Amino acid sequence: MDGMNHSVVSEFVFLGLTNSREIQLLLFVFSFLFYFASMMGNLIIVFTVTLDANLHSPMYFLLANLSIIDMAFCSITAPKMICDIFKRHKAISFWGCITQIFFSHAVGGTEMVLLIAMAFDRYVAICKPLHYLTIMSPRMCLFFLVTAWIIGLIHSVGQLVFVVDLPFCGPNILDSFYCDLPQLLRLACTDTQELQFTVTVNSGLISVGSFVLLVISYIFILFTVWKHSSGGSSKALSTLSAHITVVVLFFGPLMFFYTWPSPTAHLDKYLAIFDAILTPFLNPIIYTLRNKEMKVAMKRLCSGLVHYRKIS
Ligand SMILES: *[C@@H]1O[C@H](CO)[C@@H](O)[C@H](O)[C@H]1NC(C)=O
Repeated sequence: MDGMNHSVVSEFVFLGLTNSREIQLLLFVFSFLFYFASMMGNLIIVFTVTLDANLHSPMYFLLANLSIIDMAFCSITAPKMICDIFKRHKAISFWGCITQIFFSHAVGGTEMVLLIAMAFDRYVAICKPLHYLTIMSPRMCLFFLVTAWIIGLIHSVGQLVFVVDLPFCGPNILDSFYCDLPQLLRLACTDTQELQFTVTVNSGLISVGSFVLLVISYIFILFTVWKHSSGGSSKALSTLSAHITVVVLFFGPLMFFYTWPSPTAHLDKYLAIFDAILTPFLNPIIYTLRNKEMKVAMKRLCSGLVHYRKIS
């Protein structure tokens, strides 16, 4: 230390995932393909829902909004990671790092609340079908969306206000390929025990809390479907299983990061890739391949485009 007690670190350096050229190449191809596929898959969902009047219902509006959030989520860390893979010196500025953390927590928090809204939507559709359109009115949907964004922002700002003032006086090596709070706090040159605890509680509680809430609501909904099982239940079950798969894929890695005491060396990095790129990619797959209405709408959209090209 050079006698200064405020930040002297102006950038952080990522260690990345590996130094092996072959694995780097593999990671590059893998990440690039999945990032591209996530963006395309989610864009297709947004277009299909927007353009097809048959899909103008609360469930599909929420799904399209989830796709927008997924595109935002995988664009926070993935592009930089992909560009950095072959670089020897993978640096990010201090504020670049804070920005990554800010957006990943804001967007991640929003996604959690939106998943809860989607579970509520299914609950109303299945348990109170006669009141579905009055309860899930356009105003209610908008209310869910706005609430989701506000909670996401509060969650993110609530953690970062304590971090931006921390002194960083070097070392500045992050054993990762993106910025997140647990690694960053370890580099601060004051005692951050308490802050680490706060972050674990804040991120851990919001993710475990939402997860438990979601699991309970889906068990409740499944129970209702099973009790009244009739002709319509297999469609309800396939929609529900899609939702549940997405919930597990999204929360599994997150809960691992924030509540596992000391993550094993490389597992958390590979899980991070999974959460950053693979989950946003799987959402459209899960929701479209298992959903007949969505597939029919896409076919209609495609044939509409072909038809349009023929007459123009
Ligand atoms: C997101 O949800 C709102 C409220 O239901 C809806 O008006 C909007 O069209 C949705 N966005 C997309 C892209 O579908």
